[in-house]
Amino acid sequence: MPQALASFMQTSIVGRGQEKGLVEVVLHNLHDYATDKFKHIDDTPYGGGAGMILQAEPIFACIDKLQSERSYDDVIFLTPDGVRLTQNVCAELSLTQNLILLAGHYKGIDQRVRDVLVTREVSIGDYVLTGGELPAAVLTDAIVRLLPGVVGDAESVLDDSFMHGLLDSPHYTKPAEFRGLKVPEVLTSGNHAAIRSWREDMARTKTMERRPDMLSDTHEE
Ligand code: ADE
Repeated sequence: MPQALASFMQTSIVGRGQEKGLVEVVLHNLHDYATDKFKHIDDTPYGGGAGMILQAEPIFACIDKLQSERSYDDVIFLTPDGVRLTQNVCAELSLTQNLILLAGHYKGIDQRVRDVLVTREVSIGDYVLTGGELPAAVLTDAIVRLLPGVVGDAESVLDDSFMHGLLDSPHYTKPAEFRGLKVPEVLTSGNHAAIRSWREDMARTKTMERRPDMLSDTHEE
């Protein structure tokens, strides 16, 4: 998996950001911080139960080393029982300088890591993946694309779904008619006020249909 993560970080929008010198992503393998000669980093849970638990020692060793080299705004543990990730959190994290993302790849990690080292716990959704690597890649992508200069068209990033608390309106491109399917006339009218108002209506309607929770005052954001 580290190899899959490495190629994702070198390609994709994250790779582009790195090439432009706008962001640096460094992968660390916890096995390099194993304390026993067999390079184990997990063990059975105290009290019994299925699955292996990532040990505290290699994680402390790795994070201690990183924190001795620079200061970090957050140590984020990716876990399905974390706080659900939103665009607002991504925007907040995009303003930070340095972040550590901690991905577990087993049943769990020793709670002492969470109690002492971790400052934020993030879930990328209400489903369970086999490890935190993909969630860490998702979080990295969502943050990096918000850094100024990474995505060529800054306006397109600001217009995304969720940026204004609404889902995105539909998009069309040439040709104006395809298999008898026509582009809504307003979009080819050149009337910018009418286009803006159509897009707002469409975004509101879609949000109402699909995500009414985003429109209610009781929504968590
Ligand atoms: N690790 C496994 N599943 C996850 C999820 N949904 N979000 C964050 N980390 C995870």
